Amino acid sequence: MCGIFAYIGGREATPILLQALRRLEYRGYDSAGISVKNYELKVVKTEGKIRTLEELVAKETVSGKIGIAHTRWATHGEPTTVNAHPHMSCDGKLALVHNGVIENYLELKFLLEKKGHNFVSNTDTEVLVHLIEEFENQDLTTAVELALSRVEGAYGLVIMSKNEDKIIGAKKGSSLVLGVGKDEYFLASDTSPIIEHTRDIIHLEDEDIVIITKNSYKIKNFGKEKIRPIEKVDWDIETLEKKGYDYFMLKEIYEQPESLKSCLRGRIEKNKTDIHLRRLELSEKYIKNISRIILLACGTSWHAGLVGKYILEEHLRIPVEVDYASEFRYRNPIIKPTDLVIAISQSGETADTLAALKEAKNRGAETLGIVNVVGSAIAREAGKGIYLHAGPEIGVASTKAFTSQIIALHLLNLYFGRTRNTISDEKAYELIKAIEVIPEKVKTTLELDEKIKEVAEEYYQVKNFLYLGRGINFPVALEGALKLKEISYIHAEGYPAAEMKHGPIALIDKNMPVVFIANKSNGTYEKVLSNMEEVKARKGRIIAIATEEDNIINKLSNHTIYVPNTIEFCTSIINTIPLQLLAYHIAVLNGRDVDKPRNLAKSVTVE
Ligand code: G6P
Repeated sequence: MCGIFAYIGGREATPILLQALRRLEYRGYDSAGISVKNYELKVVKTEGKIRTLEELVAKETVSGKIGIAHTRWATHGEPTTVNAHPHMSCDGKLALVHNGVIENYLELKFLLEKKGHNFVSNTDTEVLVHLIEEFENQDLTTAVELALSRVEGAYGLVIMSKNEDKIIGAKKGSSLVLGVGKDEYFLASDTSPIIEHTRDIIHLEDEDIVIITKNSYKIKNFGKEKIRPIEKVDWDIETLEKKGYDYFMLKEIYEQPESLKSCLRGRIEKNKTDIHLRRLELSEKYIKNISRIILLACGTSWHAGLVGKYILEEHLRIPVEVDYASEFRYRNPIIKPTDLVIAISQSGETADTLAALKEAKNRGAETLGIVNVVGSAIAREAGKGIYLHAGPEIGVASTKAFTSQIIALHLLNLYFGRTRNTISDEKAYELIKAIEVIPEKVKTTLELDEKIKEVAEEYYQVKNFLYLGRGINFPVALEGALKLKEISYIHAEGYPAAEMKHGPIALIDKNMPVVFIANKSNGTYEKVLSNMEEVKARKGRIIAIATEEDNIINKLSNHTIYVPNTIEFCTSIINTIPLQLLAYHIAVLNGRDVDKPRNLAKSVTVE
């Protein structure tokens, strides 16, 4: 969601703040602002993207060595300049930026207005700064502590005062990390804007309040001082740059051979039949007793969970449920101690997934996380699991995280299957041999880019798309449709191919492109061919994702995209690549801002 950042040190704050906002822009991009402390608190903010803010800042003198910044994804109040952060106290002595939702803001606003506070925006955030102002006769730290004890909801916030050379950060529910530099400190919603300054990061805990000055930091939790571990972040700074690609999304699509390799690195034993997962920390006895697996996630990660269901049920013979995290948490779910609940999340921050994981834990489930961002809230809450090691994903539409999530689920499947003796030596060897060459096959698949662009050129003006797949490729159809919707704003639906005749077939005419996923190694290949016949009979236009050297399919399809052959359980990764590229090219041809699609945000930290 929103991105927040703060700097205190010996350097000019403004360029550091603006650069940080560029790094954080993927978290929200409808308005942005900065405040820098000198003799006064200078504020510059605007609706629109960071580049609009930069133009404004260039026209002003914004100088000082202490500053805070924000890039917004609107929840309460339209994306306007007045609703943009920072928000100020009535006397102009406090400036605050916030990520999260203050649930009791209307009640607080009512009380504060009665006390004479003048509200200028429609945001929930503004109550925070006025509430802190109420305690201004105290020092800033005490004022923040007192104010936050009256607040319900989620926040990651930073605040500074005209009167004190310090910045205070606080978090509950939303993430906040502290960067520890040499005579300078940074606070941010995630590590991406910090790592070019320091690799030493502290992940703050809920209810932490951190006080940073030019040369010190102190963390308090309910009034008690806390020591939190400093962790080294090893992300390569280059992964935060576009490196010649037009968009992060394209770069991340192309990074997949590497991100997949990185997820596999060090995890396959030499015998090629066993898997090593260092952070899994589940006893053999527990694994043997698992009676059900529940996968919780949102968006693209939920699609990865669906692929996981096919893999895990087939090889482990354990029932697997895949739940939208937002539904699970409010459904009064039935949980037994032998249920294993796995949260899947790229960012590790998604509010619904985090809350669902906590709910499962409270009800006694054992939990794991399959997460990309190291040290993120979901990773920490789960306590154990599998990191994807895909590197930072900046494009709002998830690409490389999805394929890595599937690989991670394969690894988990092998690990459990070997422990439970449901995967034999021979089967494990066969699966591992197939998985190991997936990065190379993805690389080959990426060579189809030009061909896919040609297909995109033919279809980019259509209004609707249908994606059909069966079995393990049904979730791929969902993911293909989601990618197209997210970045091109073309309506698209994913369906199990056999379900087409129960509804979507009514939509098919000569204007309807239908993407079929039809690998030969899939058990239902022939059935999918029949579904293609049904579309062809109704003059639908068929784009088929097919296995190389399939000479039948092109008799039915208008376009055939031949992908490398692999075993059925690995097809979902290979098939995803052309669908990502198709969505990308269609969006570019429509002139969309691929990395910053309207209304979306990378990490959804509100419910
Ligand atoms: C947002 C993003 C999606 C992502 C989903 C879940 O909606 O726009 O790309 O799939 O959140 O995010 P997570 O970080 O939990 O995987």
